[in-house]
Amino acid sequence: MKRLGVLISGKGSNLRAVLEKKPRGVEVACVISNVPGVLGLEVARTHGVETHVIRHQDSPSREAFDATIVKLLEASRVDFVLLAGFMRLLTPVFLNAFSRRVINVHPSLLPAFPGAHAVRDALLYGVKVTGATVHFVDEGTDTGPIILQRAVPIEDGDDEAALHARVQKIEHEIVPLAVELWASGRLALDGRRVRAHG
Ligand code: GRF
Repeated sequence: MKRLGVLISGKGSNLRAVLEKKPRGVEVACVISNVPGVLGLEVARTHGVETHVIRHQDSPSREAFDATIVKLLEASRVDFVLLAGFMRLLTPVFLNAFSRRVINVHPSLLPAFPGAHAVRDALLYGVKVTGATVHFVDEGTDTGPIILQRAVPIEDGDDEAALHARVQKIEHEIVPLAVELWASGRLALDGRRVRAHG
């Protein structure tokens, strides 16, 4: 069993997908939120998962915030980390501690529409297809090597909420799959290309 730490800032529907789909070889060891009172913390508790709230406002710097989280993850003997709607950028303090062991989910077909408003940006741009991406995290914003990606067509009547809901359905399929692939050691990195074998 590989122990997964999940970082959240909100409703935690991707966390819920992992807890409900129970990817093989993966145990959710702990959930950390930087925002108190969010639904995702409730989701974790319902499944009997240890939770922590670390408010970023309480740390003197980004590095200090990251160091606090790393300490907690290490205390929970976490092997790898999923950012599931975690709305903070990580510093090298975190990324060096969990090098190639941090995975993020993003609601667009990267490299299109990185950043915090990917669904809105895709609608405003007028693309006809968007999607969801699961990728390794590097020091850039949504720039790391892509693990899985699936497309979602944009319909004429879509608003941000309707489109985001369809994108999230796809996220809930590819996030559990990606963590299962990682846990079983089937992901190989070749430059920027991630190959899933077996
Ligand atoms: C997802 O759409 C994810 O792509 C983005 O933040 C959202 C989190 O959703 N990074 P949830 O909290 O897992 O429901």
